[in-house]
Amino acid sequence: MYNLLKGKRGIIFGALDENSIAWKTAERIHEEGGFFVLTNAPAAMRLGNIDSLAEKIGCQVIPADATSVADLEVLVDNAIEILGGKIDFVLHSIGMSVNVRKGNHYTNQNYEYTEKGWNVSAVSFHKLMQVLYKKDAMNEWGSIVALSYMAAQRVFPDYNDMADNKAFLESIARSFGYFFGRDKKVRVNTISQSPTATRAGQGVKGFGGFIAFADKMSPLGNATAAECADYIVVMFSDFTRKVTLQNLLHDGGFSNMGVSQEVMEMFE
Ligand SMILES: NC(=O)c1ccc[n+]([C@@H]2O[C@H](COP(=O)([O-])OP(=O)(O)OC[C@H]3O[C@@H](n4cnc5c(N)ncnc54)[C@H](O)[C@@H]3O)[C@@H](O)[C@H]2O)c1
Repeated sequence: MYNLLKGKRGIIFGALDENSIAWKTAERIHEEGGFFVLTNAPAAMRLGNIDSLAEKIGCQVIPADATSVADLEVLVDNAIEILGGKIDFVLHSIGMSVNVRKGNHYTNQNYEYTEKGWNVSAVSFHKLMQVLYKKDAMNEWGSIVALSYMAAQRVFPDYNDMADNKAFLESIARSFGYFFGRDKKVRVNTISQSPTATRAGQGVKGFGGFIAFADKMSPLGNATAAECADYIVVMFSDFTRKVTLQNLLHDGGFSNMGVSQEVMEMFE
């Protein structure tokens, strides 16, 4: 390991179980010398096993619903106190669509569900950054990352309203990133990750076909959750200090492909 994050303090959202991108990232950050608090929605504490991760790493878990500004304020205050100083890195690894969960087609949305989905998946990122900004909770040259998916730019029919949520999320990263950069010297980026077999990923209809297709289209194959964790470590390190307002594609090359030979062969 490289000690890339030695002495850096952070907050990690979204570690639910061993497959979660945030889980793998927490493990990698720990290996690189960073220390942090873990957080997740109160309901996720019951569904997943975040406590076992916290025990293994030796860090604290602070429950917070990312859609609640009050919860986020308590979380940020507690994190600074527990970690002994302002924050250097924050990972927003949160996504949820009630329409996807309930099997509602994109053309037949329940708008209460739609609203809940964008609140959890996109507006929570604004709320989080607004709390961090107002509290002046981030150290200069800190780094904030949220996770996205390419359905923000291209059509993936079964990704449903999560496509719109991701477009919203990426826009918030740019818009808030401007103010965070100008006023606090903090960078804000999204990482657009390959399909990954996690609880959220597998909730998408037809996920098995989807992940196999992306793998066959990508010259380097799909990026795994562990590889995503490596990339996030780099984005939290001092080697990326002037990278901001970007949507960074971490997808084995998928996004620039038209068609691959492997996929062509299936039709010939
Ligand atoms: N899995 C994929 O194929 C894939 C691809 C690209 C991007 N992403 C994104 O990566 C991120 C992490 O997802 P994952 O694939 O690791 O799945 P995951 O299911 O392990 O993680 C999703 C997390 O969101 C949390 N969450 C949901 N509602 C919340 C709330 N109100 N407050 C706080 N936390 C809440 C869940 O508890 C869970 O920990 C998401 O933004 C997802 O959209 C996933």
